[in-house]
Amino acid sequence: SLTKAERTIILSMWGKISTQADAIGTEALERLFASFPQTKTYFPHFELRAGSAHLRAHGAKVVAALGDAVRSLDDVAGALSRLSELHAYILRVDPVNFKVGGGGGPQGPQGPQAPPALTQALPPAQLLSHCLLVTLASHFPADLTADAHAAWDKFLSLVSCVLTEKYR
Ligand code: HEM
Repeated sequence: SLTKAERTIILSMWGKISTQADAIGTEALERLFASFPQTKTYFPHFELRAGSAHLRAHGAKVVAALGDAVRSLDDVAGALSRLSELHAYILRVDPVNFKVGGGGGPQGPQGPQAPPALTQALPPAQLLSHCLLVTLASHFPADLTADAHAAWDKFLSLVSCVLTEKYR
């Protein structure tokens, strides 16, 4: 669980994040689908073009759920338990086109294929956490010190664990 210092960092940055929550959620999803296109296969029913209504609505929901977790740092599992049930079903199923390790680097016509980026092989919940972290870094560069980075990394991995624990 989070230390007192980590909680303080999360809570104080949340004050800023919550004023632009929807934009942050949408940007994190845009980054997710651009960098890790295999994650798009979970959303065949969405229009995933940058800035689409689906993306913005879903981005807002994702960050609202993070807010629920922030308000219950002592019981993140309890705060996200309904969401965890939902994701157990979503994330358990490997979509037909899911390709772990695929689409790493540029692939020349003849040249050898670049090895896949390390992050390509991570489970989708970790990919989203990564994109949320990068989004926070780009919106709040001065706040995302090494300590703050570490605190958010820990918090987001806690959230991911809760969302994936139901099918382990
Ligand atoms: C739905 C949050 C990770 C796929 C949702 C919803 C929320 C949410 C709040 C809406 C639930 C509802 O409508 O009641 C989160 C959070 C995550 C996370 C906080 C981790 C930080 C993921 C990942 C994937 C994923 C990694 C797959 C790549 C989906 C899908 C839906 C969904 C497919 C249903 C979308 C729809 O049809 O409306 N998520 N999610 N989620 N999530 Fe996640």
